Amino acid sequence: MGSDGKYNAAKLALELVKDGMVLGIGSGSTVEIFLNLLGERIRKEEMEIYGVPTSYQSHFAAIRNGIKIVDLLEHSEPDLCIDGADQVDSKMNCIKGGGGAMTREKIVACASKKVAIIVDESKLVEKLSMPVPVEVLPFAYGYVSKKLKGLGAEVKLRHGSGKVGPTITDNGNFILDCDFGEIVNEKVERLEKDINSVSGAVENGLFPKVIVDEVLVGKS
Ligand code: A5P
Repeated sequence: MGSDGKYNAAKLALELVKDGMVLGIGSGSTVEIFLNLLGERIRKEEMEIYGVPTSYQSHFAAIRNGIKIVDLLEHSEPDLCIDGADQVDSKMNCIKGGGGAMTREKIVACASKKVAIIVDESKLVEKLSMPVPVEVLPFAYGYVSKKLKGLGAEVKLRHGSGKVGPTITDNGNFILDCDFGEIVNEKVERLEKDINSVSGAVENGLFPKVIVDEVLVGKS
């Protein structure tokens, strides 16, 4: 399934982009495909597109594709945010953060006028069930772990590759992958707030449906 579906989702998102727009740019492989397609359009149609990237990955990909990098200081309300997701439930709640970029992704999504999530069909589920990534200040790791277990999660510190020890986010923090089992659609918003109310938890990968305007599903 994977890449054909991702490509088709990215193509659908391309239709939403107009000359002069400021984009919130998510992260991940589907977004990277979208940026490559957008780059072709920018070159062909001589468009001016501005973008607020949410990770080094999307920052580099945006530059490669002729997008002018701006930030939320200059543009606190991007016109359109395009981002991928790891799971999308039947009510359009999402889990994000497979690539560890969920903190900036959520900030940029919340700031944007419109949010379109691009996924292939394999990401669609009835209920969210994968572990929820939680970005945590290293100083608070022990405490936050204990509190998240108290909320019912099995908690694992994420380890990366190419370096020993924990994955460090673009913000210099740890990630805890927190398995809550199946999350009832109606409880996503509550759980998102409960996690973020723990001191030392910076942000989490639950994106309740209120943040999401559209889910564009690419079929393979
Ligand atoms: C990055 O942290 C994530 O939120 C990605 O948007 C998500 O993991 C989807 O990635 P892919 O498009 O690579 O599947």
